[in-house]
Amino acid sequence: CATVTYDFDIAWTYANPDGQQTRPIQGINGQWPIPPITVTKGDQLIVNVKNSLGNESTSLHFHGLYQNGTTHMDGPVGVSQCSIPPGGSFTYNFTVDQPGTYWYHSHEHGQYPDGLRGALIVHDPKDPHKDLYDEEIVLTLSDWYHDLMTNLLKDFISIANPSGAEPVPQAALMNDTQNLTVKIEPGKTYLFRIINMGAFAAQYVWFEDHTMRVVEVDGIYTEPMEANMLYLTAAQRYSVLVTAKNDSNSNFAFVGSMDQDLFDVIPAGLNSNVTGWLVYDDKKDKPAAKEIEAFEPFDDFNLVPYDKEGLYDKVDQSITLDLKMDNLNDGANYAFFNDITYVSPKVPTLYSVLSTGSNATNPAIYGSNTNSFVLGHNEVVEIILNNDDAGKHPFHLHGHAFQVVTRSDEAAGFFDPANTTTPLPATPMRRDTILVRPNGYIVLRFRSDNPGVWLFHCHIEWHVASGLIATMIESPLDLQRQLSDKIPQDHWKVCQDANKPTK
Ligand code: C2O
Repeated sequence: CATVTYDFDIAWTYANPDGQQTRPIQGINGQWPIPPITVTKGDQLIVNVKNSLGNESTSLHFHGLYQNGTTHMDGPVGVSQCSIPPGGSFTYNFTVDQPGTYWYHSHEHGQYPDGLRGALIVHDPKDPHKDLYDEEIVLTLSDWYHDLMTNLLKDFISIANPSGAEPVPQAALMNDTQNLTVKIEPGKTYLFRIINMGAFAAQYVWFEDHTMRVVEVDGIYTEPMEANMLYLTAAQRYSVLVTAKNDSNSNFAFVGSMDQDLFDVIPAGLNSNVTGWLVYDDKKDKPAAKEIEAFEPFDDFNLVPYDKEGLYDKVDQSITLDLKMDNLNDGANYAFFNDITYVSPKVPTLYSVLSTGSNATNPAIYGSNTNSFVLGHNEVVEIILNNDDAGKHPFHLHGHAFQVVTRSDEAAGFFDPANTTTPLPATPMRRDTILVRPNGYIVLRFRSDNPGVWLFHCHIEWHVASGLIATMIESPLDLQRQLSDKIPQDHWKVCQDANKPTK
C-alpha cells in the first residue's frame, strides 16, 4: 500500500462551464474543474489543505468513506472539526479501506455548489467485476447556478421566501461542461463511474441505444443488473458497464436530465438536460438527443449486494425521525426532524464527546439543537424516517453504508410496523444515500461498528442550510479511548484561529 498525497491550495478563480456567464468559482491550485482524487484500496491518503479563499472559511469531506478510527478526518464543520479560516491550513490523513466510486466536497455551510466538489475514485485490485470491462470513465453530473451561494442563501432563508422554495439551477453539467465527448472503441466494454455532485437536482441518466449493467452502488459491489435509465439523487453514485457496438457507423448521445419535480417553479427557458456523446468516429455528427416519452428509471431497491450480506433482523436500537418543513418566528422556512431544526454548535460535537468523560453518553450535553442520538457499540441500529413533506429528499449517513429495509411509494403516510405487508428483502441493497419519496418513508439499518460522530442529513444543500440534520454519536466511550491523544495539532489550531475576534 502506498501513501498518496495531494496539496490543495483552495482559492477563487473564474469559470464559465455552461457558456452563459463567467463567474467566480472555488478552484484548487488555480484550476477549475478541481482534480479528481484517485487512490487504491488500502492506501493512506493525505490531503494538505491551504485556504486561500480570503473571504470564506472551508473544510473538506470525503463522501462515503467510513473513516474507521479517523472520525476527526471526516470534515463536517461543527461536527468533527472547526472550519479552516482564511489563511489557515489543515491536513486530512487517513487510510482508505473500501473500493469504488465516491466524491469529495466542502462541508462548510452552503459552500460546495460554488465549485468545491470533485470525484474520488478508489481502485481495487480485487474488483470482482474487473474482467468484465476494458476501461473506466468517470462521469460527474451536477446542477449549476450563475449566482454565488452567499447571495442565494440570503434570499433562500428569508421572510421573502416563506414557502422555502429552493433556487432553481440555471443548467446541468457533465464533467463540469455541456460539451462532453467520450472516445469509444468498437466492441470494448467501459465502466462508467457516474457521480451526482449536484447541490439540489436529481438527474435521470441514459445512453441512447446502449444498455447499462449496474455493478456498484455508492461503493458497494452489486450483482450485475440491467438498466436502461438511472436516477441519481444529489450525492448518489452508480458504476455501470456499457458495451460499445461493433461498428463505428454513428455516434450516440447520452443524457442527464434534472428531475423537474424538485422545482417549485420552472423558469421560462430552463434547459434541464445536458447531453454528452459516445464518439465512435469523430468525422461523423454528434446527433441531438431524442425526445423521450416517459422517465422510467431502474429501481435501486432491486439491487443485491455482491457479498449477499443478509438483512439484520434483530434491531437493538430504533430511531424515528419525523421530517417536516415549517416557518419559525422570523418568517423564514426551516426543516425539522422531530420538531428540531439543526443549529451547528460552536464547539464541534466530537470535541464535546472527548471532553465530557462518562457524561458523553448523555445526548442532552450536545445541545438541544443538534438532534443528537447516542448509539451503543456493535448494535443493529434502525432509522425510520417519515417524510411529512411533499418534497423528495436524498438522505445520507456519514460513517456507514446502510441496508435499505423498506421504502414506501409516495403518499404512503408514516411507517407502521404493525401494518407492513411487503416482505422484507433477504439481501437488502446497501448504499450511503437514499431517496425518501414525498409523504413516504424509509427504514434503514446498520451495525454500529465504527465509533465516531456521524451526521445523517438531507443532501440537498438548501436543506442542510435549513437544518435537516441529525447527529449520531456512535460509541462515545470507545471513541474517547481511541482518540483521546490522537487529534493532531492543526485541528486545535484552526479552532483557536476561528475564535479570534476579527475586529
Ligand atoms: Cu456528502 Cu454530509 O455529505
